[in-house]
Amino acid sequence: MCGIVGYIGHRQAYPIVMKGLQRLEYRGYDSAGVAIYDGESIQLCKTKGKVEDLKNKVESSINTAGNLGIGHTRWATHGVPNDVNSHPHYSNSGDLVIIHNGIIENYDAIKKELTNRGFTFESDTDTEVLVNLIEDVQINQGLKLGKAVQVALNQTVGAYAIAVFDKKKPNEIVVARLGSPLAIGIGEGEFFIASDASPFIEYTTNALYLEDGEMAIVRLDKKIKVFSIKDDALITAPYIQELKLNLEQIEKGGYEHFMLKEIYEQPQAIRDTFRGRMRVKEGIIKMAGVDDHIDKFINAKRLVILACGTSWHAGLVAEYIIEELVRIPVEVEYASEFRYRNPVIEKGDIVIAISQSGETADTMAAMKLAKEQGAFVFGVCNVVGSSISREAHAGAYTHAGPEIGVASTKAFTTQITVLTLLGLKIAKAKGKISTSDFHMHLEELNLVPQKVEEALQSNEQAKKIAEVYKDAANFLYLGRGFNFPVALEGALKLKEISYIHAEGYPAAEMKHGPIALIDEQMPVVVIATRRGHYDKIVSNIQEIKSRKGKIIGIVTKGDVTVRDLADYVIEVPEIMDSMSPLLTTIPLQLLSYHIAVMLGKNVDQPRNLAKSVTVE
Ligand code: F6R
Repeated sequence: MCGIVGYIGHRQAYPIVMKGLQRLEYRGYDSAGVAIYDGESIQLCKTKGKVEDLKNKVESSINTAGNLGIGHTRWATHGVPNDVNSHPHYSNSGDLVIIHNGIIENYDAIKKELTNRGFTFESDTDTEVLVNLIEDVQINQGLKLGKAVQVALNQTVGAYAIAVFDKKKPNEIVVARLGSPLAIGIGEGEFFIASDASPFIEYTTNALYLEDGEMAIVRLDKKIKVFSIKDDALITAPYIQELKLNLEQIEKGGYEHFMLKEIYEQPQAIRDTFRGRMRVKEGIIKMAGVDDHIDKFINAKRLVILACGTSWHAGLVAEYIIEELVRIPVEVEYASEFRYRNPVIEKGDIVIAISQSGETADTMAAMKLAKEQGAFVFGVCNVVGSSISREAHAGAYTHAGPEIGVASTKAFTTQITVLTLLGLKIAKAKGKISTSDFHMHLEELNLVPQKVEEALQSNEQAKKIAEVYKDAANFLYLGRGFNFPVALEGALKLKEISYIHAEGYPAAEMKHGPIALIDEQMPVVVIATRRGHYDKIVSNIQEIKSRKGKIIGIVTKGDVTVRDLADYVIEVPEIMDSMSPLLTTIPLQLLSYHIAVMLGKNVDQPRNLAKSVTVE
């Protein structure tokens, strides 16, 4: 939710901030803005719309020369997306300017108080309230900017990553974080501020990620000063890490959309997920986060998986896999529900929090609640150094590389890969799987990237099917067993990027209600792989056919039965049932992608969505 970027140093700030905003646009894209200090005054330009709209507006309206600048790309929380509500926001004096990702929950009370003291507000945002609160503190208490920010933040309730500067002191930017990510790139005589490292990766690989509750004064002539917002305690040796990210990973590399690029990256992403962990010949799986706590996993009575959206679907696949392999109960919960009820966490429970971004507010809050109740929390995240990965007691990264398309693709398959490794590892440690079976699983998993490559060859067929059904008003997705969550995921992918209503169901549930929807207008995507309850699903297909539904079958290579019944089929290679979601997902991603492209939708930035949902 919202991307923030800033620069202070010897280069021109504007091009860096602008390029940074383009890279962060996946985080929110309903409005954007920049503020550049040109040596005398702050040049500010903002607009409803995308970063491209901002670029057009800037070039005809402000002077962009200057070595200090901040920028923002917004996903609206308070106030509709319009020019006035866009960030950056000035304080009343016009000296301070701020960008903010997050929510100040008590902004209304603060606003009333500031209004009583003569402050005026142009926008409906909580952010404009915050910058004026900082100014109020600065003036009334005679404090320097850094201290004023700290005092003001201690009066707020909510979440934030902020960057603020004062035109009277144009050699520093003050930043703070609580609940929203903030990275500082450290170059030679220059500093970069951003929601993630992508805006500064070509300038420096040294990054300092602020921890929750920390703030920093980034001053040109000094070392960065990091301290606690709450009690001022100085962090004497903040951890500066060497980034592994490269520029190519965050660019489209010749693909029309990030989503398509990321779909095609899956063979490599899955390989990267198990590389170094799975040693097929030796018959071992090494996962430091599990090895270090193996007794906990061996003795666990129950696993509770917490996640949202696509990550929740990966959790459902994991439930099937882990229960089958380890024979302990696995529960999969929507993090947003878990956090607001009174969940039962017992001694011996292990909680697994799954999140691509590692920043999802609901997942973060749910895992904190589980921790408070004594659970051991294991994080499965993609973004290295993200909040959830740091909050967890231990964890495993998916190593899928940056996922920029808002619709999650490679995150899903790599999450399933990590969770499969986890299931196998616990099963082996508990003696629940024979050595030969374990080897067989490793060998099969090792072949997955190659089989995903084969599954990707269904692209043309997916495109053809998309052409036929792109104007349908509804879609139904059905699957059984390991492929039931894939049906949910297929429906989610279609909804979020094409805005076509779609529902996923366990195939057998169809007769308990959804069957009433079926007529000659209804395309039904049925995952009917040979090893998974095949006969049962063939019966379900017959039920659809006799009601004139249109059948798109996702079948195992060489299948004849479903081919005869279905209107269209897409083949995937043969694989053991528990790993089939890694293949059957591929044509569903491609089908949604092509439908959305044909309907002229913005595939990478679907309406109303954002890549990392840092609000509840
Ligand atoms: C769907 C999608 C969302 C996310 C969900 C959780 O394509 O991207 O449903 O899966 O918002 O996000 P993470 O995994 O970052 O916690």
